[in-house]
Amino acid sequence: MKPFYITTAIDYANSAPHLGHAYEKVLTDVIARFRRQMGDQVHFLTGTDEHGQKVQASARKQGVAPQDWVAGVSAQFQALLPRLNVSNDDFIRTTEERHKRIVRQILQKLYDQGDIYLDTYKGYYSARQEQFLQEKDRNPDGSWPEIFGEVTEITESNYFFRLKQHQPWLIELLTANEKFIFPAFRRNQVLEFLKEPLNDLCISRPKERLEWGIPLPFDEKYVTYVWFDALVNYYSAVVDRPGTWPATWHVIGKDILVPPHAVYWPIMLRAIGLPLPQGLLVHGWWAIKGAKMSKSTGNIVDPLALVEEFGADALRYFLIREMNVGQDSDFTREQFLVRYNSELANNLGNLVNRTLNMTTRFAGGAVPAAADLQDLDRELRALWYKTRDEFIPLCEGFQFHTALERAMFFLTETNAYIEKRAPWKLGKSAESADQALLRTTLATMAEALRLAVTLIRHVTPASTDRILGVLGYTPGATWRDELAWGAKLTGAKVAESLVLFPRPAPPAGEAKPAKK
Ligand code: ME8
Ligand code: MG
Repeated sequence: MKPFYITTAIDYANSAPHLGHAYEKVLTDVIARFRRQMGDQVHFLTGTDEHGQKVQASARKQGVAPQDWVAGVSAQFQALLPRLNVSNDDFIRTTEERHKRIVRQILQKLYDQGDIYLDTYKGYYSARQEQFLQEKDRNPDGSWPEIFGEVTEITESNYFFRLKQHQPWLIELLTANEKFIFPAFRRNQVLEFLKEPLNDLCISRPKERLEWGIPLPFDEKYVTYVWFDALVNYYSAVVDRPGTWPATWHVIGKDILVPPHAVYWPIMLRAIGLPLPQGLLVHGWWAIKGAKMSKSTGNIVDPLALVEEFGADALRYFLIREMNVGQDSDFTREQFLVRYNSELANNLGNLVNRTLNMTTRFAGGAVPAAADLQDLDRELRALWYKTRDEFIPLCEGFQFHTALERAMFFLTETNAYIEKRAPWKLGKSAESADQALLRTTLATMAEALRLAVTLIRHVTPASTDRILGVLGYTPGATWRDELAWGAKLTGAKVAESLVLFPRPAPPAGEAKPAKK
């Protein structure tokens, strides 16, 4: 079976990770875990992008050698992953020998094929974007847009990759393949970009200007342009894993679709003679009051602080529940707390505690066998199957936010079922019919809980496993035998209680409610 190979963008090793970086890892992890639950063999890669102007500049600013600087920042990105319950199979650093070797091999091959040539370039250059500019990049008034920072005019000899000649092929590919870019509207953006003629791509930087990069194998006076180096990570990381390439999905943010992932990368692969990935999954931005969260702006939210305060699964749940993949979202603490309190603490947390508490009180801590199901039980069971059958296609289509909404609705209805049945009343009755109904109710609520948390396991893995643990249940590795309504918990010994999603402490300075 061809592995489901999924990657994230590799983060620039120039400063600490923020919520936007955490989101991309969590989204990719949710997809990876979802595919594993579906029975796929998954390979999940992430890493750090460690060469180039930006990284060299931040190292200089700190007065540190670039290799020491990137080691420190990369360690921060690596440390974040387990804190977020991210299940990556590999982590690549572009300063690793396994990567540099493949970049050099590819450059040499392209050079030998005649796909790379030397030319003299005179024009405008943005150090901040590491990009040569064209007249069309100017503002209407002739100035350069602020994103380019300081723009200088330079003349230099450089190596160019023959990009231009592949433009008709790329347009045809994108036109024919509606599924290559998700969401679909982003494909139109790429096609729009491709209406202008492409230029060949400058892939070298003279060492006087930039030392921190991979030397060109055919001319040591130059290092490789950082994007030409970085994109290759997706391939260099799996050369020793036959059958893994091509990637199934590259998960990236919308700022790096055009031109790197949608133009350079497919053309590079074609020139090298490698198959293309199945698709590009393009997410939007986390913003604060409408402004993109970014290192350079400094308007960032620290994902580790949220993990400290609420736990990894609460953050994962929020990120996936709140953002429609492909759109932007604003981050506010208020909205985080709304979802945390109403959906995790109340809806899920209450069902867990009611199930444990009542099973302990009324059944000696062992889930009883259901007697005959009544209408109410059958309705809940029917809702389960409807939920499950909608949930999986939604996840397959990356509509995780809607999928979670459906799962929450099922939990809400399970809590409503308990209210209607009122097992606390049944428990006081000595009637045998009431006792039978009580057993059915306890069995039904436990089974509904097992199914609901199994369904969201890819989003809240640690919490799901803790809940299944206190229900005395060990799930299978995949969903194959886990999603049918049944009697898996009959006889299971449950714990008396579990503290999950505790109420957060009130913000400092807020008065505590007076004791009655
Ligand atoms: O672009 N919200 O690295 P990077 C959501 N090294 N996602 C965000 C975000 C935000 N506010 N800010 C950044 C690079 N990202 C290159 C990639 S891949 C071969 C090389 C996302 O550290 C961004 O869109 O600037 C990108 O996908 C990832 O974080 C890394 O961004
Ligand atoms: Mg960026």
